[in-house]
Amino acid sequence: MRETRAVLVTGASAGIGHCVVRTLAERGHIVYGTIRKDSDVEKLKGIPGAIPLRVDVTIPEQIHEAVETVKNRGHGLFGLVNNAGIGELGMLNTWDDAALRQIFDVNVFGPHRMTNAFLSFLLESRGRIVNIGSRGGMMSKPYFGPYTMTKHALESYTETLRLELERYGVKASIVQPGGVATSIGDASLPGTVARCRKAKPPFVEECQSLADALLNPPSRDDEAEESETNRRLSPPEAVADAVLHALVSGEPKLRYLVGTEWEVGKTLDALVDKLLDENDNPTLCLNQEQLIARLVDRLSARSTS
Ligand SMILES: NC(=O)c1ccc[n+]([C@@H]2O[C@H](COP(=O)([O-])OP(=O)(O)OC[C@H]3O[C@@H](n4cnc5c(N)ncnc54)[C@H](OP(=O)(O)O)[C@@H]3O)[C@@H](O)[C@H]2O)c1
Repeated sequence: MRETRAVLVTGASAGIGHCVVRTLAERGHIVYGTIRKDSDVEKLKGIPGAIPLRVDVTIPEQIHEAVETVKNRGHGLFGLVNNAGIGELGMLNTWDDAALRQIFDVNVFGPHRMTNAFLSFLLESRGRIVNIGSRGGMMSKPYFGPYTMTKHALESYTETLRLELERYGVKASIVQPGGVATSIGDASLPGTVARCRKAKPPFVEECQSLADALLNPPSRDDEAEESETNRRLSPPEAVADAVLHALVSGEPKLRYLVGTEWEVGKTLDALVDKLLDENDNPTLCLNQEQLIARLVDRLSARSTS
């Protein structure tokens, strides 16, 4: 984006969204940042070029008002960054329908509502859609089920948008962060703990241990190697850089995995395991040599495309 362009970022009160707003505004762009509370207007006021919009992505009336505001400002819209998200944890058997619907409402239906509401602007500008997914959109682990289910859905949503809209000039990308230093854990803690406390036998003890571990997390040991229990967090700026690339590059990638070397390695392992699971199939079960040849073919297809 060499010239000044307008971008809307959802969930701009804190964390990654706030950092993306700052990053774009510092480069001279007009940035609409959505917030839900009046008290958060102040957080954006100090960022020149940032315009707060009050939007809860689960409330269609507020989205409609935001569309009207963007229309009336007359700058159009080049980029939509669907960042707002929630991340409660807990064993699947402790989630009732209402809670499951709520996390999908914010993390999946929210981006869909926003994208459809602002699509006419993006078609006009031949613009960009950047969804904030997660490394958890490609793998699963205990207690993260509903969250990673929403991020898996966002993967398919983004890829479909990319395939459907590219011929109309709009490019969609997904940024997949690993652990990022934000307050998402604090924001979700009360809901997670309350859910754990309602666990029924035989899960009571396990859920109690999860709640205790979240309430009293072990301190990180920066000297020790990174592991599942000794994770390193990336700064929100690393995610903002990927978002910026997806918005400004002439050739934005479909996927941007952002994380530590340990996280990226574990993600690749999980994806290779999925590939090997699929290959374990009576219809077409490639041997090692054939698998490697196929990988080499795909690599050269990418390098020539
Ligand atoms: N932090 C990580 O480790 C991490 C890793 C991978 C992916 N992500 C993804 O990155 C995105 C941002 O997360 P974060 O870590 O920056 O979290 P955060 O600090 O908790 O910020 C979340 C933002 O989303 C907003 N939000 C929540 N529900 C909303 C709703 N219904 N409508 C509109 N806005 C809403 C929050 O607004 P309020 O202040 O009003 O609640 C806040 O601005 C999420 O999609 C998350 O899944 C985060």
